[in-house]
Amino acid sequence: MIERAVEILRAGGIVAFPTETVYGLGADAANPDALRRLFAVKGRPRDHPVIVHAARAAQLDELGRDVPAVAHGLGEAFWPGPLTLVVARRGDRVAPEATGGRDTVGIRVPDHPVALALLEAFGGGIAAPSANRFGRVSPTTAAHVRADLGDNVDLVIDGGPSAVGVESTIVDVTASEPVVLRVGGVSELRLAAVVGAPLTRRTSGEIAAPGTLVAHYSPNARVELVDAAVLSSRADELRARGMAVGVLDAPSEVAEYARFLYARLRELDERGVDVILAVPPADNGDLGAAVADRLRRAAAAR
Ligand code: TXA
Ligand code: MG
Repeated sequence: MIERAVEILRAGGIVAFPTETVYGLGADAANPDALRRLFAVKGRPRDHPVIVHAARAAQLDELGRDVPAVAHGLGEAFWPGPLTLVVARRGDRVAPEATGGRDTVGIRVPDHPVALALLEAFGGGIAAPSANRFGRVSPTTAAHVRADLGDNVDLVIDGGPSAVGVESTIVDVTASEPVVLRVGGVSELRLAAVVGAPLTRRTSGEIAAPGTLVAHYSPNARVELVDAAVLSSRADELRARGMAVGVLDAPSEVAEYARFLYARLRELDERGVDVILAVPPADNGDLGAAVADRLRRAAAAR
């Protein structure tokens, strides 16, 4: 399977593969034609940069340039894992099509045996956005990928359900201070412990990481965020108005909430509900921040 995937990538094809966060839609990061097709399949605007995946932390200096010490420190601490580091791009290894023409590149070493085997066998960087149609809920199983992208993908590698369930944390290390562009699988508390100080968060306002558009990660149903105390009364109220209401169960363990978030949103969509009621976890600098962030964006979608 890995061998076939590598052949497809070398020939400019597109391979969906599992990672610990969500499934990725991969293409050769150095092949402009393959990247153009990747953006077309995903339905993603050309100027939205994608993350380039690598097998080893040492590739940070092959794909990026002028990589600061703080990036090496973070890579050592969290790779393989759900962290993406934005560094200056090395033009010979990463085509501008991968980064929306930017001279920076987001790099990540995923923590999944299948992804790592694929990356190791391929050798170079694999550009991979989440393997969903643009703006939709990210896929955490191979079935989700097939439901979204069907025959437009040359190969879908099934590596089981993603263990983390929300996307990587993105940290920009191109300025003097590291900045969090997207909260995700590595909590800000853990980042701060390595950096030695709390990090600035810049996840809204001017679009630093274009995928962090407010209306993102959205199911078909309208998502409404509520307090646990009013959940059932709000559900009754909406049902009395004739609406089909789905309640997103909120596991008490935030890691479990993250792991099942996207699958549950998809299930509720499949049931055809009009409204999904969700109780977001507290944004306490742990994984709850990522779950709360995705739910906020889903709720802002319309
Ligand atoms: O966990 C993940 O990060 C997953 C798996 C497949 O690795 N990937 C993922 O990719 O979520 P995607 O394309 O759905 O989101 C990538 C995000 C976007 O918000 C994009 O704007 C940001 O990364 N990004 C990528 N390169 C960037 C760069 N050079 N500067 C700023 N933001 C960047
Ligand atoms: Mg995405």
